[in-house]
Amino acid sequence: MAEIIGGYFTSHVPAIGGAMHRGAQQDPYWQPFFDGLPPVRELLARKKPDVAVVFSNDHGLNFFLDTMPTFAVGAAPSYANADEGWGLPLYKTFPGHPALSWHIIEALVEDEFDVTMCQKMLVDHALSIPFELAWPGVEAWPIRIVPIGINTVQHPLPSARRTLALGRAVNRAIASWAGDEKVLIVGTGGLSHQLDGARAGFMNPSYDQFCLDHLAADPDALTRDSIHDIVRQAGTQGVEILNWIAARGALGEAAQEVHRNYHLPISNTAAATVWLEPEPA
Ligand SMILES: [Fe+2]
Repeated sequence: MAEIIGGYFTSHVPAIGGAMHRGAQQDPYWQPFFDGLPPVRELLARKKPDVAVVFSNDHGLNFFLDTMPTFAVGAAPSYANADEGWGLPLYKTFPGHPALSWHIIEALVEDEFDVTMCQKMLVDHALSIPFELAWPGVEAWPIRIVPIGINTVQHPLPSARRTLALGRAVNRAIASWAGDEKVLIVGTGGLSHQLDGARAGFMNPSYDQFCLDHLAADPDALTRDSIHDIVRQAGTQGVEILNWIAARGALGEAAQEVHRNYHLPISNTAAATVWLEPEPA
């Protein structure tokens, strides 16, 4: 039986990739963010997950505003990164796990989540940067992935309640998988930030704190606001908290926080790195 070994949550802004590329991790501006990563790397080295189920959002590399699936599940043998125009190096191609992908897709559709199934998929900075943060400079990724894309870009977005329910359905799918893999759950994005419009530069530490304080013990608390209220509190791009909410759902009913780092700003964004562990029922 597969075992979920933990949940790794972190921000994914492209500037993090730029800082790593320049070797600026210890610069005073960046150090408080990068200081959040060593405990995650130690946990990963100790727990050695085989496969990661990753909740993130596409920023136009696969899907643009004209064609935007609400929930998209990758079922490809591999996932390449591609140039998004940020001046970042291309990240290594990620090996997929098609059998587990198809099991999750079949279980989700059976559970009445009518997901888009993607037998070809690119991965953008929302997936590559959290993995480079977790395994910096490795020759090949030590883990296979099942990417799940959530629309946080083109309205109407899925509700937080629906997104948490999706994550819980993924948890049930993993529980019914016959393999014995060690599974890492990953949620990327946020925290509060807004990149454009009259509120460009907006961040909201008190809302971030609310999310971080409830993520492990009471994730339903994050689902009581409408999408528009979340945008109001978190910023237009801070609604990427949906990825975190789904990933929390995939950890199962009970979870505890093992590690938390919070810092702002990095590139006009509030950033956090968190590790949660599921608790046995
Ligand atoms: Fe993003």
